[in-house]
Amino acid sequence: MSIPVPHQPLPLGGRHIVLGLSGGIACFKSAELVRELTRAGASVQVVMTEAACQFITPVTMQALSGQPVVLSQWDAREPNNMAHINLSREADAILVAPASADFIAKLAQGRADDLLSLLCLARPHAAADQPCPLLLAPAMNREMWAHPATQRNAVQVVADGATLLGPGSGDQACGEVGDGRMLEAADLRDELIAFFQPKLLAGKRLLITAGPTFEAIDPVRGITNLSSGKMGFAIARAAQEAGAQVTLVAGPVHLATPRGVRRIDVRSALQMHDAVLPLASANDVFVATAAVADWRPAAAPGEKIKKDGSGAVPAIGFTENPDILAAVARLPDRPYCVGFAAESHDLARHAREKRLRKNVPLIVGNLGPATFGRDHNTLLLVDADGERELATADKLSLARELVREIAQRLGRRA
Ligand code: CTP
Repeated sequence: MSIPVPHQPLPLGGRHIVLGLSGGIACFKSAELVRELTRAGASVQVVMTEAACQFITPVTMQALSGQPVVLSQWDAREPNNMAHINLSREADAILVAPASADFIAKLAQGRADDLLSLLCLARPHAAADQPCPLLLAPAMNREMWAHPATQRNAVQVVADGATLLGPGSGDQACGEVGDGRMLEAADLRDELIAFFQPKLLAGKRLLITAGPTFEAIDPVRGITNLSSGKMGFAIARAAQEAGAQVTLVAGPVHLATPRGVRRIDVRSALQMHDAVLPLASANDVFVATAAVADWRPAAAPGEKIKKDGSGAVPAIGFTENPDILAAVARLPDRPYCVGFAAESHDLARHAREKRLRKNVPLIVGNLGPATFGRDHNTLLLVDADGERELATADKLSLARELVREIAQRLGRRA
């Protein structure tokens, strides 16, 4: 079944980003970052320090951003000769990537002896109507990052209103391994997209199940289903972007963990049940997107079942798996429970029935065959007040809409 998918707005569409580069080998990643930001819809104005120009040329950054790079406070192209004011007033955010140890130290002291530090200082940081956020992606050798002076400076710039993105950990250009790597371009893009999302679930804890389960027949075979886990992972990402603390219990899927999300991998329905139940009451919301197998083989022998040559097929008996969602909904101090209903037909009727049977306030219906494994979906929200369709869209956009719906319902309960 093919679903017509409407055009989706780009996640950074209409945003103007000043991308500052201070000196560091991670400047080579900033070239890719410009591409990621522009592909996501942002317009990007690059500002480089003198040290950054030692690592990558302004020509490269101009070609990628489609805008002349600004290098100096004394750039005569600015009619009023106030590049620091103009740039910081036009920006929806300033992202400094890489932010070197020296640059962070400068910011911590409020120094302004080059254009980039000057425009960071000059940005409207506390304006009620239009503040200009400052995001820093530190990039340096692990000893420099761990040095007490840098740590002190990092605490100071955060106290002064900046947001640190990373640093990451791993191999460093110098050959050492540790904390201080600049986050990858795609991660920084996602951090920026997340930064602009409304923090509708700030302070809330969400527990989410996702993916299929795998029920072993013997050590080499099993039964599972076509769920890809994409919807549950998108909800985990959207909830994290909205400020929630998210735990994702995932069946066997090959998907990257959304940044900032705690992930617990399980295989079978029983393992998923045992991972979820002890955590459920400590969460504000439980979202059950997993396509949990209804049955498991009653006995899974420790050795592979062999053909005996007679043509006889093995008789596999089944036992019903526990219903994880219904078990959470029965807890005395249960979280707000959101179930999914994957149906092949009569979606609204089945979703209504499931809501009552599982005793949960909200069921999200979708047509399994039309969505399993795909990047798009259409959702039908069913609660005590009736039904509402969330039109066909990519799963992340739908997840963000669902997060809004959940936040509204939590607000009404409070
Ligand atoms: N669910 C669960 N544990 C199970 C089965 C389902 O937590 N053992 C949850 C799913 O994660 C989903 C909801 O219950 O949120 C409905 O799942 P679905 O597979 O659509 O329905 P079933 O309860 O299995 O009912 P049926 O197979 O009859 O449609």
